[in-house]
Amino acid sequence: MTRVANWLDERLAWRRVWEAIFLRRVPKVNWFYTLGSATLFVALNQIVTGILLTIYYVPTPDHAYDSVQYITTEVPAGWLIRGLHHWGASALIVLVVLHMLRVILGGAYKYPREITWMTGVVLLIVSLGFGFTGYLLPWDQKAYWATTVGTRIAGTAPVIGDSMLRILRGGEDLTAVTLARFFGVHVWILPVALLTLIGIHLYLVIRIGISAVPKRKE
Ligand code: HEM
Repeated sequence: MTRVANWLDERLAWRRVWEAIFLRRVPKVNWFYTLGSATLFVALNQIVTGILLTIYYVPTPDHAYDSVQYITTEVPAGWLIRGLHHWGASALIVLVVLHMLRVILGGAYKYPREITWMTGVVLLIVSLGFGFTGYLLPWDQKAYWATTVGTRIAGTAPVIGDSMLRILRGGEDLTAVTLARFFGVHVWILPVALLTLIGIHLYLVIRIGISAVPKRKE
């Protein structure tokens, strides 16, 4: 075992990577500093359960609703996978906001962590995007009307409102085109953005190190 590990280490230097990630020194911090990791855990849960859901989910108006019912009632552990994805979506938003509040209250957005903060802001937008696009996918009454209202709100924006509404819906009304593009954004564009941004975010957390709990006089 050790020989295999050494053989790989000579070629990949994986021990240095392991040390940088898991054996780095951190200042004495409190539980609020675990919120980023909790967010990361839920984000990974969303990716895994989301991939599993795509095995049975069909993104067309004819089949979307039925496929979701099928997942919930017929597929083995489908109810569990869907439940984890459904509640995980809410948990992600709650955790990402709490994590951001810790960063604000601890002043962790300041030099030299500005880019960690900026990638975080985009991660927040991406997380909200997941919620918005995912809500339509069950294609039930609640989903349909919530997205009708949501896209109409975007349509009230000055100057660009009309084009935004058309881009979001893929036309004047909510149709198969809307469902297809929400699905595409939900399972391809946003996950790629999320993973890329998390990669940069965590690289910076490891490179710069975590901020210490601020002292009263700082
Ligand atoms: C999917 C979303 C996110 C994930 C997975 C994530 C993950 C993490 C993790 C694991 C850490 C290190 C541990 C910790 O401080 O809790 C961290 C630190 C940090 N995050 Fe996030 N984060 C996310 C969103 C955000 C948001 C929305 C912001 C702010 C707008 C943000 C800003 C920061 C900053 C500035 C740090 C450095 C904190 C320090 O050094 O004390 N992050 N993030």
